[in-house]
Amino acid sequence: MIRKRIAILISGRGSNMAALIAAAEQPDYPAEIALVVSNVADAAGLAHARQKGIATAIVDHRPFGKDRAAFEAALQGVLDANAITLICLAGFMRLFTAAFVQRWQGRMLNIHPSLLPSFPGLDPHGQALRAGVKVSGATVHFVIPETDAGPIVMQGAVAVHDGDSAETLAARVLGIEHRIYPLALRLLAEDRIRIVDGRCLIDGAAAPDEAFVVPKV
Ligand code: GRF
Repeated sequence: MIRKRIAILISGRGSNMAALIAAAEQPDYPAEIALVVSNVADAAGLAHARQKGIATAIVDHRPFGKDRAAFEAALQGVLDANAITLICLAGFMRLFTAAFVQRWQGRMLNIHPSLLPSFPGLDPHGQALRAGVKVSGATVHFVIPETDAGPIVMQGAVAVHDGDSAETLAARVLGIEHRIYPLALRLLAEDRIRIVDGRCLIDGAAAPDEAFVVPKV
């Protein structure tokens, strides 16, 4: 098995990064976490990646000011130097130009802690609570120029509890994030995702029949 070489891009805590690293430690996993890149030098996730023996790089966006293309050229240089073929965004807090996104079209995943297309952007859990939804969750999707949009690879749902704050809901959703991101990356690395009319069709995977009803009465 030739394992795909993955770069994970982070800006902070890196718990999704850690979930991907743990999955890729399994011998049958079709992808290798070859590089972790952060735009923030003291991102907490970098220490975990280093401790796991994974190459890390810091590409600070600040010296580039408003010149996003120049920042992306520096980032692309690091990706090329490490022979990266797929990118996972995991709490990476920078927006890309359309040119960079197009260059990685079909090869760059993101995770967002809501059931997209609901609640894109900042404070998705606050948005969910204000909307009063009974079910929330997380979405792994291909990156397109529009933020928190793009063909959906996988979603996982959790119940919203009456007493939830944004923090307690975030913690419940994070548990499902850590489950679905490694599964979604596996599908991509195994070339099992076909995009048809903007929808991801997954070879050899069926949708379950069970319904998820909230509240339980
Ligand atoms: C996660 O909730 C992810 O869905 C969002 O940013 C958060 C990053 O958390 N894009 P972590 O750095 O993976 O712990």
